[in-house]
Amino acid sequence: MTAYLMEARGLEIRFGGVVAAQNVTLEVKEGQNLAIIGPNGAGKTTFLNICTGWLKPSAGSVYFRGKEITRLSPRQICRLGVARAFQIPQLFTEHTALENMLIAASAREGHWAPFTALSRIPEREEMMHLLEMVHCGDVADRPVVELSEGQRKLIDIAVALALKPRLLLMDEPTSGVASSQKHEVMEILVRALAAAGVTSVFVEHDMSIVERYADEVAVWAAGVVQLRGGPAEVLEHPDVIRDVIGETV
Ligand SMILES: Nc1ncnc2c1ncn2[C@@H]1O[C@H](COP(=O)(O)OP(=O)(O)O)[C@@H](O)[C@H]1O
Ligand SMILES: [Mg+2]
Repeated sequence: MTAYLMEARGLEIRFGGVVAAQNVTLEVKEGQNLAIIGPNGAGKTTFLNICTGWLKPSAGSVYFRGKEITRLSPRQICRLGVARAFQIPQLFTEHTALENMLIAASAREGHWAPFTALSRIPEREEMMHLLEMVHCGDVADRPVVELSEGQRKLIDIAVALALKPRLLLMDEPTSGVASSQKHEVMEILVRALAAAGVTSVFVEHDMSIVERYADEVAVWAAGVVQLRGGPAEVLEHPDVIRDVIGETV
């Protein structure tokens, strides 16, 4: 049995001549927030896609709670407790925040039918509580299209939490959020995950967010994990300053 919540071993994947993962090995410890940084095209999103079953590697394995999940479908992996949040929130923007939560809740129970009256879905209170956890209780009845990008990101996280995951994989949770609000959004997000007992892996380009919120950082370049360690140590590494921080500023 492995002591890690998730473990990737020797992942390989190519798209034509592009190597998006080459012998990628990475462990995620229960309870941590692990940041993935690296230049555009390094393979960060590809890694999240492999871990959630959307892409199948040509070699290597992914284990979740000691069980191999590499060949399972995205739906099966989600059921085991791995959720995903996207760079662009995947919400029904004409619906209210609470309606989005209710749709997620009924999808979770497998009883979603497009014409089920949302008002009859029994998980209302539970979903309201999740919205409050991400500080969006006061906008529960507003259409998502009217909200700020920060609020949409937080509601997207609440939707992911509705699936009761053990692990949440997030692709650039603060991208698109006004820079004055990035830290506030991340603070609310990280607290909600801690309160729900959810471990996270997040891809991030803003190094001030990485420094403040990551327990560990993994550095990606050209499909390879170049370095891994605590944020202070990694962000001061000359290769990281040259290849990653230099690219993103
Ligand atoms: N489905 C795909 N088909 C073809 N090429 C892809 C696909 N997904 C990713 N790639 C390529 O793989 C490389 C890594 O992409 P990606 O994982 O999105 O990088 P990152 O998220 O680090 O910016 C890029 O060169 C990208 O163009
Ligand atoms: Mg990406």
